[in-house]
Formats: sequence, C-alpha cells, structure tokens
Amino acid sequence: MIQLSNVSKVVTSGLEQLTILHSLDLSIPRGQFVSVIGPSGSGKSTLLGLIAGLDAPTSGSVSLAGHDITKMGEDELAELRGRLVGFIFQSFHLIPSLTAYENILVPMEIMGVSKAGERAQVLLDEVGLRERGHHYPSQLSGGEQQRVAIARAFANEPEILLADEPTGNLDTNNGAHIFDLLINLNRVYNTTLLLVTHDHHLANKADRKISLSGGRIVEDREMGSREQGVGNREWGVGNGESGVEELTSLSPTPHSPLPTPNSQLPTPHLIEEAR
Ligand SMILES: Nc1ncnc2c1ncn2[C@@H]1O[C@H](COP(=O)(O)OP(=O)(O)O)[C@@H](O)[C@H]1O
Ligand SMILES: [Mg+2]
Repeated sequence: MIQLSNVSKVVTSGLEQLTILHSLDLSIPRGQFVSVIGPSGSGKSTLLGLIAGLDAPTSGSVSLAGHDITKMGEDELAELRGRLVGFIFQSFHLIPSLTAYENILVPMEIMGVSKAGERAQVLLDEVGLRERGHHYPSQLSGGEQQRVAIARAFANEPEILLADEPTGNLDTNNGAHIFDLLINLNRVYNTTLLLVTHDHHLANKADRKISLSGGRIVEDREMGSREQGVGNREWGVGNGESGVEELTSLSPTPHSPLPTPNSQLPTPHLIEEAR
C-alpha cells in the first residue's frame, strides 16, 4: 500500500518558486498496476522519486506499507527502500564497471541476503540472460541492459516496483518484452507496479491509469481491463525450465517473505522463449 497525503513539491530557482507537484492525495493498494502518463515536465519522475524516498516532499507525507518515510532518518529510509522498493530507470543506470551478474548482486549484498550468488543466476535466467552474466553493460544491447536492471530491481523481491519510462529507449519489440516482464512480476508476486510511459496502448493495459498535467492529477481511472484467473493469455510462454518455483525455492529476503504465487494459476514464466 502506497499512501500520499497532501504531498507537494516546490523548488526554488533564483527568486522564483516553482511548484512541480501541487498538493496531491493518492492511495495505491498492494498489487495494483498503475500506469502514469502525462506530457514531459508534468511531474511524473518527481512523483516516482517521492514515492521511492529518493526525494523529499515540500509538504505532506508518503507512507509505504504503513511506514511514513517522510519521518525517517537516512539509514532507516535506506534500509526500508532496499527491501521494499525496486526502481527501474529509462536509461538503465547499471554500474558500468560491474558485470550483469555483479550488478544484480549489489542490492542483495547490501541487504545481506544469503545465497545471493545463486539467486543472481536464477534472476539472470528469469530475464533470459543465462549466458550473459559475465558481460559488462557496454557489451549488452539496450533491451538486455534493461532486463538486467529489472533483475536487479527485483532482486530483493520488493513489494513496490517503480519504473520510469523503462521502455523509452527501446524499440517496440524490446519494449514489449520489458513490459511483459514487469506485468508478470506484478501478477505473479502481487508486486505493486507504477509504470511511467508515453505509450497509451501499454498504459491502457494497467489496472488504473493516472494522468498528470502541470503537476496535478487530472485523471485517475480504474481500467477494469485486467483478465483474472486461470488461462490468462498474457502470461509469458515459457519452456518449463525456469519458472517461479525456482525463484521461490531460493531464500527470499529475511524481512519480506515471498508471497506464494497462486497455485491456481498456470506456471508463470518471466521470460518468453528466446527468439
Ligand atoms: N530539482 C529541480 N529544480 C528545478 N526544477 C525541477 C527540478 N526537478 C524537476 N524540475 C522541473 O519540474 C518539472 C517536472 O519534472 P519531472 O518530474 O522530471 O517531469 P516528467 O518526468 O513528467 O517529465 C519540470 O519542469 C522540471 O524541469
Ligand atoms: Mg520524467
């Protein structure tokens, strides 16, 4: 559950006060997939940054899973963010001097996760990069780098995934693949997903669509398009060798036990068959 109450963001530039976000209230239940659209400069990234605790609001409070992060000190906030929040950027933000495998390892090492190495390898499998773990970001395509970034963001099985135009730098095919990965994480793990996108077609696949303009929420719509239950054709098509069971069998983070995927559902796969 994400709860924003009376949140605003004002910055001072020179003598001017610039209101980036006007006072807004927003409540997002656990597991909801929310798309955020709006023109450039409308405050989308600022909103995500406030929810991630990367930025502090000028007024109001932000609560994640019942914790008011605006009242936390740096260390407490870093700890909470490390286990509750995954962030995916448009430009991937991988560490260039680390391999794909090592990039995925970083958040788990920070949180002291046991068997982090094994889990990093499983995550690489899950995003379809089994053989690419030893490659550096510069040796990977944009789509591949973004898949590493997703594996890294999901390493500690966060309740909340925030993705700021994650498909913005990718071609249509790679973008669709990334989108499918995120949707599957949302459905399989009940991960709350906030996705900023310019793609209206993708935005309309969410449970809920929020439109920002000039730092205000100008539309907040439940989409009701989500198919429920068994046989949902939007599940990825896998080859049966890297399902979620593997992920769940590895030690989840000590603080946030992994929600058990619904056994009614078909075995989910986070990746499509390699083309
Ligand atoms: N630290 C800052 N100082 C001054 N202006 C900022 C700052 N951060 C963002 N802005 C401005 O706030 C507006 C919203 O930015 P942003 O949240 O990045 O929009 P979006 O992601 O929707 O494109 C933009 O006009 C941007 O230039
Ligand atoms: Mg932005």
